[in-house]
Amino acid sequence: LFIGLDIGTSSAKGVLVDDAGRVIARASGDYPLLVPRPGWTEQDPEAWWSAAESVLQTLVAAADTPIEAIGLTGQMHGAVFLDAAGEVIRPAILWNDQRTGAACETIERDVGSEKLRRITGNPALTGFQAPKILWLRDNEPDNYARLAHVLLPKDYIRYRLSGAFATDVSDAAGTLLLDLAARDWSDEVLAALDIPREWLPQVFESPEVTAEVSDTGARTTGLVAGTPIVAGAGDNAAAAVGGGIVKTGVAFVSVGTSGVVFAHSESATPDTSGELHCFCHAVPGAYHLMGVSLASGGSLQWFADRIASDEAAVAQRLGRNLHELLAAEADTVAPGADDLYFLPYLAGERTPHMDPNARGAWIGLTLSHDRRHMVRAILEGVAFSLRDSLVRIEAQGVTPDKLILGGGGAHSDVWRRILAAVLNKPVAVQEDQEGPAYGATVLAAVGAGVHADVDAAVAAMVSAPETFEAPDAELVAEYAPRYQRFTRLYPALRDID
Ligand code: XUL
Repeated sequence: LFIGLDIGTSSAKGVLVDDAGRVIARASGDYPLLVPRPGWTEQDPEAWWSAAESVLQTLVAAADTPIEAIGLTGQMHGAVFLDAAGEVIRPAILWNDQRTGAACETIERDVGSEKLRRITGNPALTGFQAPKILWLRDNEPDNYARLAHVLLPKDYIRYRLSGAFATDVSDAAGTLLLDLAARDWSDEVLAALDIPREWLPQVFESPEVTAEVSDTGARTTGLVAGTPIVAGAGDNAAAAVGGGIVKTGVAFVSVGTSGVVFAHSESATPDTSGELHCFCHAVPGAYHLMGVSLASGGSLQWFADRIASDEAAVAQRLGRNLHELLAAEADTVAPGADDLYFLPYLAGERTPHMDPNARGAWIGLTLSHDRRHMVRAILEGVAFSLRDSLVRIEAQGVTPDKLILGGGGAHSDVWRRILAAVLNKPVAVQEDQEGPAYGATVLAAVGAGVHADVDAAVAAMVSAPETFEAPDAELVAEYAPRYQRFTRLYPALRDID
């Protein structure tokens, strides 16, 4: 049996699976998101650990044979700051925190933009880990003076379980400190930013065993001391493994709070335009290209919570959730929503604009539009923004011929049809939605030696969708010119103060 543990942004989620990939048990534990100032997001690492302890206890109790290995995954990019005694210095700063604009400028200047992209594969983005270290230096000198270790969220849980300081290549690639081609920390970038290598954990390939559960780690989790812990992966790479995206051909499109287009790539191909992420994959030696939209499902969620919440009771009476109800309404208006467009940049945007100050908009409103059009424009605008990512991935020479859809949005019939047509690829929905934690169990099974490598483990444990739904040709033709118009809207608005 294997355990996969995902330290997410809203909760810790764990699954217990057998060698064939059957899910035996699931557990989760929530924790709060702290927003001490607008644009700042933090979490208490102790809260992650308490949730992890209870999730592990539940899963261990459900296991009737020994746990062979544990795989860790979690939200990427966060910074956990520890002192020399391993004590947490201040709350962790998360992936969606926007406080580090000035630090990003410093990094682009001190490393050099071209060199930064060539070595790390990415531009300096506010959410990444390295600018958070510089922010601490410049804003909390007393805390900085105590700094001895910087960890990513899931790696703090590894530390509590085992006492080891270790990470994996996919998550390490999201720090901005990794040499993508060497799959290890870049001495050149570290020197330019004055960050000692000793502060960073040792880097492993995702299925490698990094440490064993210690006596202390065993005491409060129910695990047996000595249980191996594999390196694991950042949540997107782990979800891709769980969805079987371990070679080129099929890409993964996730419509959760954020939206992600994830494509496997055999080589480190940093996108020199800086509009995509290029990170190591959890498959040893491989990479992935990824476009990220910050408010995909989040845009519909916002509309449901803030604009249409009065309808929640109606939806409940009808036995439907509000998102379904709104999407069904949107399906009663024609594609194109009578020429209404929505820019889904409610939380700023990464791909392709890389602009934390980007903002959402409806464009083209007339007296004849109503709520249905506004929702349809949201569904279409999110699909257009994901096409922005796909177009850029294809420009790097990685051309998927099919897409697996995941996340809440994939389960809406209307949204799925729109996505298939806008992205113009056959799509299938990933039915067993266990997400990143499931992918972490696949990595654990490789680390335990039950499967020879990630490919073999995926073949044995992941059930690939059998049928893909072709896009509707009429809808494809309808959306092609609309997408072109969509791409001109943000540049036209960007420079208005
Ligand atoms: C990826 C990213 C998010 C987090 C959220 O670059 O920032 O997907 O990993 O969990």
